[in-house]
Amino acid sequence: DNPPALKSIAPFGMGAAVQAGPLRDDPVFAALAARHYTQLTPEWELKMEYVVQPDGRFQFDRADAIAAFCRAHGQKLWGHTLVWYANIPDAFARLDESRASFGQAFDNYITATVGRYRGIANGWDVINEPITDEGGRLRDCLWSQKLGQVDYMRRALDVAHATDPSVPLLINDYDLETKPAKLAAYMRLVETLLKAGAPLGGLGCQTHISAGLPEGAMHRTLEALASFGLPIHLSELDVSLVPGRGAPANRPVAVARQAQVYHEVVEAFVGLPPQQRLALTMWGLRDSDSWLKREDASDAPLLFDDAGAPKPAFAAVAGTLQGR
Ligand code: G3I
Repeated sequence: DNPPALKSIAPFGMGAAVQAGPLRDDPVFAALAARHYTQLTPEWELKMEYVVQPDGRFQFDRADAIAAFCRAHGQKLWGHTLVWYANIPDAFARLDESRASFGQAFDNYITATVGRYRGIANGWDVINEPITDEGGRLRDCLWSQKLGQVDYMRRALDVAHATDPSVPLLINDYDLETKPAKLAAYMRLVETLLKAGAPLGGLGCQTHISAGLPEGAMHRTLEALASFGLPIHLSELDVSLVPGRGAPANRPVAVARQAQVYHEVVEAFVGLPPQQRLALTMWGLRDSDSWLKREDASDAPLLFDDAGAPKPAFAAVAGTLQGR
């Protein structure tokens, strides 16, 4: 069949970020989501910014809708994301009570959220983006301030594991492919968590990259991450065409490089031991769905064009999968 369904030719989980609205209202979007992927990631509806209301109540209606779509299509839901420095809801920021009650609210949120999707979720980004962009340190945030640095991560992993011990629990970060200090800090954090006996079940590498990614960079990054022997999730793959994000200034050159970069990413991931190939998740379906297009309308980072037709980048991914 043409084009081939990615989930039929990939020897590992194929994922995509989706949103409840287009899943419900846009038949092209829903058809792409159902046809190509074994798992779907709520792009924002399963984050505190949506779930935790100002009065502290939780709203899961949109994540529930995505979970229902997954059930209807034999897919799994990827739990993105429980604890993130960038999501500080008023209900938590306002909790200036004792550490005990803050900790109880923290635990309660994780228990309620992970518990709700037990059985349909196949893993969680428990801690999102814990490393600073430049200095390769651990980010200081409300969670680290209230519950202790690294301690908050250990606590989140323990509570999530107690709630659903059946699925891998990950940390997740970006620019590991292009910032050696950030990759080194990420790897130090993994060692710290593993040495502390934290139930860390895998490593999330977001892979928001550009067509300017140096050759070999993805192989080197995965080789380093794979040294822990844990499953790896390429969790938010897109390949920007914008020069400001590192892509070649010449557009036709950038488009050609984009397909090559997609080929290299898939080739590097396929080369991992099977038990370490958790999933490869696209951060969006059509170019028009991409957060990057909202940042720069000239970008076209994904596998399907605005009409939902496969691009040369799709052919590069499918060709690499079929050719292996
Ligand atoms: O569509 C709704 C609109 O109906 C509503 O009225 C409005 C009110 O705030 O929100 C709109 O939703 C926005 C949503 O994107 C859909 O466009 C949210 O405000 C906005 O916060 C959300 O941004 C998301 C962002 O994370 C923050 O959650 C982006 O879609 C999403 O692509 C981006 O994804 C992150 C990963 O989680 C972590 N790694 C980086 C990646 C890119 O920033």
